[in-house]
Amino acid sequence: MLVTGGAGFIGSNFVRYLLRAEPAVRVINLDALTYAGSVENLKNLPEAEAGASGEVTGARHTFVHGDVGDRELIEGLLKKHRIDTIVHFAAETHVDRSIMGPELFIKTNVLGTLSLLEVAWKYWGLERSIGGRETRFHHISTDEVFGSLGPGEEAWTEDAPYAPHSPYAASKASSDHLVRAYGHTHGLPYTITNCSNNYGPYQFPEKLVPLMISNALEGNPLPIYGDGRQIRDWLYIDDHCEAIGTVVRKGRPGETYNVGGGVQPTNLEIVEKLCAALDEARPDSRYVPHKSLMKFVADRPGHDRRYAIDSAKIRAELGWKPRHALEEGLKKTIEWYLRHPEWLAAVRAQGDYRDWIARNYGRRS
Ligand code: NAD
Ligand code: TYD
Repeated sequence: MLVTGGAGFIGSNFVRYLLRAEPAVRVINLDALTYAGSVENLKNLPEAEAGASGEVTGARHTFVHGDVGDRELIEGLLKKHRIDTIVHFAAETHVDRSIMGPELFIKTNVLGTLSLLEVAWKYWGLERSIGGRETRFHHISTDEVFGSLGPGEEAWTEDAPYAPHSPYAASKASSDHLVRAYGHTHGLPYTITNCSNNYGPYQFPEKLVPLMISNALEGNPLPIYGDGRQIRDWLYIDDHCEAIGTVVRKGRPGETYNVGGGVQPTNLEIVEKLCAALDEARPDSRYVPHKSLMKFVADRPGHDRRYAIDSAKIRAELGWKPRHALEEGLKKTIEWYLRHPEWLAAVRAQGDYRDWIARNYGRRS
């Protein structure tokens, strides 16, 4: 299996899940190690060890530092390892960054996906390189392609029309269309999952949940965009990994499956829950009550008001359902961040983290 973006948040959790759940699988993990990806996320993998030059490799996992847009590299990997399954996570993923610099989102999410599709269908379809073995291109997408719901509107099913609002969402919508086009035109056996907001271990601390945890631990302000009454559907990472694994192995080719936690708090509610859980976990902190750190700041331009996803299809057809209630998932997440200060320090030290925080939040206060 080729996993792209496997050194990022969801990708690295999926690699962990896969090595545990599928003893026969061999994973080639391709990642460009942008600011959001890190070999720190691949430490202590089941059946893997870190090599001398920092690469992580083992009997069933090989890390390859490279770009999804590098056709020669991907073609070489497909041939060398006789890849029959691609699970494509690699992407630029932060809405705020896409507003300030959309070009990279088009390059990675649209052109990168196109490049991967080209190589896959040529290798599997045109050259029939792996004989009669079943192949699968699984594309990881987001509920943000559907736009934003008004109060009382029904949750999105797989048939909801695409109406992306941010450059990030537009780039993901575009990549979804390309995947379906390769299925239709070239017969590429694909599946797509459109998932809601994830949270859990190894999430880069620019996204809401880890940003709030890490800021609260240090007594920094907890920036709430706008009125904080925006709604997201939240899913614990392990539940998403199980959903992906299930669709890759049991989903019908050519089908899309919506995946969500079925729990939809406002941003204010989720930050308040995090603060209460931190008060409990760190009763002696001088920042108790952590809630007092919450601070309203200027809103995100074009901020989507409400997301809600209907997972009835994957539940009924494939028997998947989320195992974690929101409180339980948040508690596990906080415990993980409290136990891994060294991880937090390492990923914050890489790339442009400090600069990003100054650029994004400096102009909002
Ligand atoms: P992330 O930002 O944590 O990780 C992205 C990974 O992709 C990083 O490791 C990065 O180095 C790698 N990458 C970026 N550009 C690359 C390139 N050109 N070539 C190879 N690797 C590259 O993101 P994430 O939250 O783990 O999201 C993974 C996927 O899941 C994305 O496709 C995203 O759109 C989708 N998704 C995320 C969420 C969420 O809540 N995080 C929800 C639904 C869908
Ligand atoms: P985010 O984690 O960026 O995910 P997405 O925008 O892809 O849903 O943000 C989740 C919600 O939290 C979103 O409504 C924006 C809001 N938010 C804040 O209020 N403050 C912040 O500092 C961040 C990063 C997000």
